[in-house]
Parts: sequence; structure tokens; C-alpha cells
Amino acid sequence: MKQNEVLVFQTIENLSEYLFSLISDKIPGGRGDEYFTLALSGGSTPKKILSQISGFDKNSIDWKKVRLFWVDERCVPPDDQESNYNMVYQNLLNTIDIPEENIFRIYGENNPENEALRYSTILEKNIYSEKGLLKFDMVLLGLGEDGHTASIFPGNNSLFGSAKYCEAVVHPQSGQHRITLTGPVINNSDTVVFLVTGKSKAGILQRVLNQETETDLPASKVKPTKGNLLWIIDKEAAGQLDKDSYKSM
Ligand code: 6PG
Repeated sequence: MKQNEVLVFQTIENLSEYLFSLISDKIPGGRGDEYFTLALSGGSTPKKILSQISGFDKNSIDWKKVRLFWVDERCVPPDDQESNYNMVYQNLLNTIDIPEENIFRIYGENNPENEALRYSTILEKNIYSEKGLLKFDMVLLGLGEDGHTASIFPGNNSLFGSAKYCEAVVHPQSGQHRITLTGPVINNSDTVVFLVTGKSKAGILQRVLNQETETDLPASKVKPTKGNLLWIIDKEAAGQLDKDSYKSM
């Protein structure tokens, strides 16, 4: 188990190539029916990276072995510009050969409370569980400038103690309803990858990684119990980190 391994990339393309190979190397080979369960976050960072990945040799990933889920979703229709599903569709799904039945979107158009229950059932049916808790193979997270991740916002750290797999929440500023995976599910994953780019994230990233002083930020509470925690960032986001705290790629 590696916690807080920080890799810094010179370009978004190099960063995306590394993530692509990280996913590709983990996808089970052979004719078995095992799947690689991957949960995607929304936001502009994943959008940039997925757009890069859509240009790579997509056939080097056997997408039939991948089950795609979402870390969180805005409670809007799937064709809405705010929809995380729509972002992934426009930047990846419409270019890869992945069976429809391998795509498990959160129904943002549904009543939030009902959808949190429905999606929890979907997760139970389609993801390996260990000691009664879901275990994603990989979860991709973003980092908000306020230290949020998924749709777990400052002041809502109780979601890291939730007994549920996902919950309906409200964005503290916009009032937008959202569905989010809860902290225990995220922390039970085999690999959690934070994707952080841009100068605007340098300050919050330094605070989150500086675990001595900042422990209340939601992103600081992402500590996989047995899995790996990897930060894949660009050089702009690394602007306030000590050079000995990361590996340049
Ligand atoms: C969402 C995301 C959210 C996002 C961060 C970072 O639905 O918006 O899940 O947690 O990852 O806000 O977003 P950016 O990459 O756009 O900065």
C-alpha cells in the first residue's frame, strides 16, 4: 500500500498517457469474466484528461472488461451541460468500444433521495464486496479549491462515516442537488487517484498534502484503508510543494 505518492508531469498529455497505462495495466487479461471497476469524477480536469485519452490507441484497453461508474453526479438530465455523465460521454464514451451494459450512470434526472438508494443497489449488484463493503478497483477524484472532493464539501465530513454507499447532498454555494459516493466506499478502493492540474490548485494541494496542519478538508480524509493513494498532477499544481515531496515524471 502506497499512500500519498505524488507524481508530477510536465504536460497534460504525459499525465494522461500515464493514467491510461495505469488503467490498461490493471485490466484483467484472459477470458475470465472478472471486470475492472472504475469510478469517474466530473469537472474540467477529468474532461481535459479524458479528451486526451480518447485520442490514444483505445484498442489497447479491452473496454469489455471495464465497468464504468461515477463518483458523483449533478441532479440534472444526462444531456445537460452540467452532467458528469454527459462530460464523460462527450470526451470518451462516444469514441470507445464499451458495451452499454458496462456503463452505470447515476440518473441525475431522478429524485435525489430515490436515486441515491437506486444507485447503491446498482453498486451492490455490480461491484466486488469485501467484508460487506464495496471495493472499487480504481476511483478517480478531483480536488476543488475549497478542498472538496467527489461531492463531499467542507462541513460535510460526516459523509466519511456514512453507513450508506452513496448519498444525496446539496452544493453549499450553488444549492445544486448532487449524488455522491460516501467516504467509506472511496476509502475501501484498491486504488484512489487524485487528478489535479493548474496553478489555481497549487495552494489547496499544498494544504491537503500537508497533513500536519490541515486535517478537516474533505480531500484530507481520503485515506484508503488498504489501497493505494496516488496523486497525478501537473507542474503548475505542484508549484507550492517541496521538491523532495514528489517524483518528477
Ligand atoms: C464534480 C466533481 C468535483 C470535481 C472538483 C474538481 O462533480 O464537480 O466530482 O469533485 O472533481 O470540483 O473540479 P475541476 O477539475 O473542474 O477543478
